[in-house]
Amino acid sequence: MPSVVTGDDLRAARRPLSQASMLPPACYTSPEFYAQEVERIFLKEWLCVGRTDQVEKPGDFFTLMLLGERLIVVRDEDHQVRVLSNVCRHRATQVVEGHGNLPRFECPYHGWTYSLKGELIGAPEMQRTDNFDKTQCHLAAPRVETWEGFIFVNFDPQAQPLGPRLAPLSQRLQHYKLSEMRTVKTMVYEGNWNWKIMVENYMEAYHVLGLHKGPHDVMPVHSVLNASHQAYNITNATYNGAFGIIWGDFATPGATFYSPGVTEAEPGKTEWLPSPFPLIESLSTEERMRGDFINIYPTHLFTPLPDGMFYGQILPQAADRITWSLSLCFPPETLAIPDFAQHLEHAVEGIEFINSQDMWACESVQRGLVSRLAQPGRYCHLEECIHQLAQYVMDKVLDTRA
Ligand code: FES
Ligand SMILES: [Fe+2]
Repeated sequence: MPSVVTGDDLRAARRPLSQASMLPPACYTSPEFYAQEVERIFLKEWLCVGRTDQVEKPGDFFTLMLLGERLIVVRDEDHQVRVLSNVCRHRATQVVEGHGNLPRFECPYHGWTYSLKGELIGAPEMQRTDNFDKTQCHLAAPRVETWEGFIFVNFDPQAQPLGPRLAPLSQRLQHYKLSEMRTVKTMVYEGNWNWKIMVENYMEAYHVLGLHKGPHDVMPVHSVLNASHQAYNITNATYNGAFGIIWGDFATPGATFYSPGVTEAEPGKTEWLPSPFPLIESLSTEERMRGDFINIYPTHLFTPLPDGMFYGQILPQAADRITWSLSLCFPPETLAIPDFAQHLEHAVEGIEFINSQDMWACESVQRGLVSRLAQPGRYCHLEECIHQLAQYVMDKVLDTRA
């Protein structure tokens, strides 16, 4: 067990929700604790790195950094999505930067060339090197799986496949046709806070009472709180390390919470607008009135909505640093509606506004947790998903059950 946390604190975190204290602040701030999380969570679990439509054609690629690892996500000639290490097998230069479309990757340093599958196919002037075998110099590649259009990587060769574990969730979400959705906007931010703070902020609805309330009730507070009560039943029923889920009822059919707007009737009054995007036809009546806030542990956050989906991607970089992005996705036919670009711009404004509030809160929490005077907090009954995340983290990181 990392020495930064005491047994008493951990026993308090293990109690039932109404009696428990939150994880000790060091679990959010200590490089030692984070190193254990990397070792026992992030290098073992499936982590989302994007959507398959970001690499639609053979040769399409993008690069990213995850856990300090530089990676290339690419679609090869056989239409397989692959994730490759972006570290040249010669002297470790990054083979490619940014995103685009290439027939092969040529390292800019000495010109070694790799196929889209990561095979070394060219290495100039290496004929005098004894026993040099190109087949032993492929770019390293973590495991990859796609699920509902999301691309996941796993650094553990022994990890259980993701698909079977998520089959019940696929079944539950089948009417949304998530795999067909198109990513139309991605907003990327660098966050100076711990990954758990981001997951907690995404998953708990309690903060709608404060952070998003505003002078004109930017979000439908009562609707969210009612929904949260129902949500936790589902969370309890399904929590087994597979996924967490919150069920949100947005009351107005088709209203989506990325569309707060200013009404003409009352100047300056911000309120919920009906979605300008068509509802997904295959949804049931009940599905047309809700949004699910889902976390596939540890960090894959996504929310199917009556007209589309948004998802949050956390790329942990350090104990107090993540790359955070939010993406909006819609069914392909929605992209063809009149004024789609204008509606999208409005939706993006709404989601950026709410996200800026959330990011302010996350940064503030991290600043508070480094205080020498910070103590583990107590849970509201609306924060069961945070309690569950804490149990998950302790299950994975600690050597013995506290
Ligand atoms: S470091 Fe890539 S070719 Fe030398
Ligand atoms: Fe929020």
